[in-house]
This record gives sequence, C-alpha cells and structure tokens, in this order.
Amino acid sequence: MKVAIFISSRGSNMQALVKASQEEGFPAEIVTILSNNPDAGGLEFAKAHNIPTKVINHRDYDNRDDFDAAINEYLEGMQIDLICLAGFMRLLTADFVNRWRDSIINIHPSLLPAFKGLHVHERAIESGARFTGCTVHVVRPEMDDGPIIAQAAVPILQKDTPESLAARILEQEHKIYPLALKLMAQRKVKIHGSIARIEGCVESEASLLNPEA
Ligand code: GRF
Repeated sequence: MKVAIFISSRGSNMQALVKASQEEGFPAEIVTILSNNPDAGGLEFAKAHNIPTKVINHRDYDNRDDFDAAINEYLEGMQIDLICLAGFMRLLTADFVNRWRDSIINIHPSLLPAFKGLHVHERAIESGARFTGCTVHVVRPEMDDGPIIAQAAVPILQKDTPESLAARILEQEHKIYPLALKLMAQRKVKIHGSIARIEGCVESEASLLNPEA
C-alpha cells in the first residue's frame, strides 16, 4: 500500500509512521510527505530519510477547491492508496474527502467524539474530565468526524498544564498511529456505517485501547 503523509509543521507523528514503516514486514510504504507549509519542520526529517517531499502551499490558491485539486492531481500521479493526516492544519473539501472515501485517516489529540477542533488540551483540563487521550479515525467531511480505528486513554492529573498533558498524549499518539496504519494496510479495518471494526481481533483486543504496541 502506497501512503502519503500530510503535515503542516513539526511532524512528530509523521516521524513515528516513517520509523514504523521501515521495520521489516511493515505492510505499507511511505512514498511522499506533503506539506501545505514550506517551513514545516518535518520536511527536513523526510529529506534526511530520502522520502520525496512536496509542498503545495495553500496561499498559492484562490480557494479550497483549487488547492485540493492540486493535491489530488499530485496524489494520483504518485498512485497513492492511502493518506495519513498528521498535524495537517487545513480542512479538506467534501469533494476531496469523498473522492478518497475510506482512504484518509487522521490523528486527533482527544478521545473523540469529545473535544473536536482546536485547543483540545486546555478544554479537556477545564472540563474537569478525568481522562482524555488520542484517536485515529477514518476521515469524513465533517471536522474530526469518522469511524474510530484506535484510541488510547490518558489520565488528566491535577497538576497538568496543557503542555504537560499534550506531551503525555503525544507519546500515545506515536504508538496508536503506526498501529492504525498497519491495520489499514493489512485491510483489517472494516467500515460499517459510522463504525470501524477490526477484523481478526478477539473481543478483548477489538477496542485497541492503550495497545502495548
Ligand atoms: C498532534 O497532536 C496531532 O494529534 C494533531 O496535531 C499534532 C501534530 O503534531 N492533529 P506533530 O506535527 O505530529 O508533531
């Protein structure tokens, strides 16, 4: 399976995906890293690992349709099978998402469907919730919506700041995103309406909450 990863800045999740994909027998190949931001730090890592990079700057386009059309043309030229959004800070149009239906996955730093959108760690702390976490899901046109593939729960401590909480969640993100990509590449993720089920899992593993992987 040929994979494109979309980033906008640091790219630590992208790095986790690349490292996992370089392990023997991993069922997916990362063939390009695409950024809308020419200054994204993650581009340097990609270049250092000899992965082709592509910048498609949204500022060069008049509207979202034209920007997404440019991305689509590039992906089709690269014969991409699956897109991983990894800190990609642009909303994709419904047309684009529907063109790539069930072939785009995203990571979000909360236990969806709670805390969609931005400033999630501040909002999680302010809510008084005892747990938050991270989610990898199949992308649908609505923001941070779509069938859940993998989640990890992280406790919210009384002493937590948004930064300390974000750092503990990020550690889990780097575990569940490679796992979710592997399951997608193995075609073990079966989508039934709004629910993704993992084929070949025993019931106790099926939720994939806090996997050891
Ligand atoms: C991560 O917290 C991810 O969940 C969110 O944006 C952040 C990106 O971080 N979508 P990085 O660029 O992968 O380091």
